[in-house]
Amino acid sequence: MKNKLLDLLKSTNDYLSGEEIGEALGVSRASVWKYINALRKEGYEIEAVTNRGYKINNTFQVLNEREISKSLNTWEFGKELYVIETVDSTNNKVRELAQNGAKEGCTVIAETQTGGKGRLGRPWKSPPGNGVWISVLLKPEIAPQNVSSITLLAGLSVCKVLRALFGVNAEIKWPNDVLLNGKKLCGILTEMNAQMESVDFVIVGIGINVNNASFPKDIEDVATSIYQNIGKEVNRIPIICELLKELEKNYAIYKQKGFSGIRAEYSNLCVTLNKEVKVIAKDGFIGKAVEITDEGELVVEKSDKTRVTVFSGEVSIRPVKEN
Ligand code: BTN
Repeated sequence: MKNKLLDLLKSTNDYLSGEEIGEALGVSRASVWKYINALRKEGYEIEAVTNRGYKINNTFQVLNEREISKSLNTWEFGKELYVIETVDSTNNKVRELAQNGAKEGCTVIAETQTGGKGRLGRPWKSPPGNGVWISVLLKPEIAPQNVSSITLLAGLSVCKVLRALFGVNAEIKWPNDVLLNGKKLCGILTEMNAQMESVDFVIVGIGINVNNASFPKDIEDVATSIYQNIGKEVNRIPIICELLKELEKNYAIYKQKGFSGIRAEYSNLCVTLNKEVKVIAKDGFIGKAVEITDEGELVVEKSDKTRVTVFSGEVSIRPVKEN
């Protein structure tokens, strides 16, 4: 009943009186009021005006399984879906589900994370309503050392979806940050459970800053959001659905051809290429990023023209001017 009411409210931009709703749904006005309140508790903004009735704020969207599943157009990804109000980390939740037998494509989304995890043990700020905090379970038949290229696949997917949906010039900073105007729009944390030779499962955790109007002081110079770039709040549901579709598509190519199947597209969107970079590692050096290999590694050319292949996960790449 609550869902029927929701669809009815969404079907018009006009006010609907309690009586009209009651008649359409075959319930009393008191019940209408009860269901309106239940929807409000779920986060829907429903205006009530005396003598006019109720009107839903259609631009405000709440993340819930029903709304997402309705728009989802995938084979497997997101079909087993958990949308949680608050969780420590969506990656942790997927790990728990995987350990209890969840299938490939199982997806967890949270409105907010209390312990969002970034790379290198850093925290990932995940305020409610502002972002897409999502983790997907994968079970690729690959060796543990190849898992990092799955992170590249996720970066490419995010980049393509945000470009297509919002016309923004999103770019990939190798290996897997998505940048907009030089600032970080999305981060990806891939975790796995593996044996020496084989992978049990992989968790791809993606954090996209969507409706953040501002960022905390410590990251405001380096972080950005869709909102900050296009000047209006956007619906997160199309982002989620398109992202799951794009991930599924690229993962299918990856399973057939490895990273080489998406290498050209990745390279086209990779802002690191042809730039001077500083490789931060034990034997750090400065060079020019010249190529991405079929395995997703970065080839850096030193001033003496010798080339070094850099593996993601081993190093951190910084543009030279930053250091
Ligand atoms: C980075 O440091 O750039 C990676 C950030 C990854 C954040 C996402 S948000 C969804 C998922 N759950 C987490 O705890 N982390 C990832």
